[in-house]
Amino acid sequence: MLDFDSSVTTSDDYYSTFTPPRIKKEKKQKKENKIIFPVSSSLDPITIGAKRPNADDVKIIGGRGYDLRQPIPVKYKSVRQHFLNARKNFWIPNEIPMGEDKIQWNTDKLTEAEMWLFKTNISYLTAGDNLVPDNLVNVLLQHTTANEMRQYLRWQISEEANHVESYLFILESFGLDEQGQGQIFNLYQDMPDLVEKINWNIEFANNAATTEAPKGSIESTQALLEDLISFYIFEYMFFPLGFSQIFALARQGKLRNTAQQYSYIWRDESLHAANGLWMIQQICRENPKVWDAAMKQRAREVVNEAVKLEISHAHAVMPDGGILGYSIQTYIKYAEFLADKICENLGVKVLFGTREHPMPWISEYELNHEVNFFEGRVREYQTGSQLNWD
Ligand SMILES: [Fe+2]
Ligand SMILES: [Fe+2]
Repeated sequence: MLDFDSSVTTSDDYYSTFTPPRIKKEKKQKKENKIIFPVSSSLDPITIGAKRPNADDVKIIGGRGYDLRQPIPVKYKSVRQHFLNARKNFWIPNEIPMGEDKIQWNTDKLTEAEMWLFKTNISYLTAGDNLVPDNLVNVLLQHTTANEMRQYLRWQISEEANHVESYLFILESFGLDEQGQGQIFNLYQDMPDLVEKINWNIEFANNAATTEAPKGSIESTQALLEDLISFYIFEYMFFPLGFSQIFALARQGKLRNTAQQYSYIWRDESLHAANGLWMIQQICRENPKVWDAAMKQRAREVVNEAVKLEISHAHAVMPDGGILGYSIQTYIKYAEFLADKICENLGVKVLFGTREHPMPWISEYELNHEVNFFEGRVREYQTGSQLNWD
């Protein structure tokens, strides 16, 4: 990798090399007025004389006085790597064959409980995958002042759009018309537990976006952190729990094509979660005062709230206690297991003390990060013969 730092010149060098005389004159006037150019968004007007970024000046949030529209220097090399890894993971829902699922859907292979689980699953996940990019646009990109992170977040937005396309493609491939698809997509809106769960994330986003505390203040940064934590939970807990519902069907040989779609989505979400955690940690490294005892306690409470939401979710989508090989109890244990992992990753005390993964079989659906979509093959899934009602 290039050593970007050594390639950085001062703004004076830059202008003496490239700037026409008229701009030089204006720059001189600005210098005399000692204007600082606050550049926090690509929507800020371009100002003549804005300083070329230097890695020492770049901050993950709250950076000021440099031109954010330039892709170098890359201060945060690991974020750049997130972008390059994500781009390698590019995939297209429409290229995953759906024929087997279409036959199963149209020949009533799913039980009533399985059908309800599937429908509520795709309804909730579609709402969720619409919500995440909105949070990126309305909250995170409003604060992020490192170009490499802005690039990654832009790429993530396109991936979330691809996930919504996947859900749409699944229902289309079953042969459902717009009315049939709409009935499924709309389901969550009539389910109080799912509405509450969606609104939970929206509240954090709105709070961070509308807080009257000045940007850069501890209060404003803590509102941003809470939002980041709530969406880290989305990517690391809510999505995988959702995917596990469909993987449980695939273990019985049902909706395996849909499970294949979800495996690709899960790979993307894993990287979103890793990047989200990195961002939380980096904000705290650069602004250590925000990660005080009260904030740590709050982070723990937020994770605990998420588990409670999952418990309600589980009962709403599995009113009979579960499906073959997949019980509400196992689901809740998995929520607690992931909650403890989140606490560990945030450096706060775990909530439940879980030790063993309650769904070890889920790793069969985890794609190798090195698998290239265009060279991949449809995976074979375990059939339901060894399953029991646990
Ligand atoms: Fe997504
Ligand atoms: Fe995501």
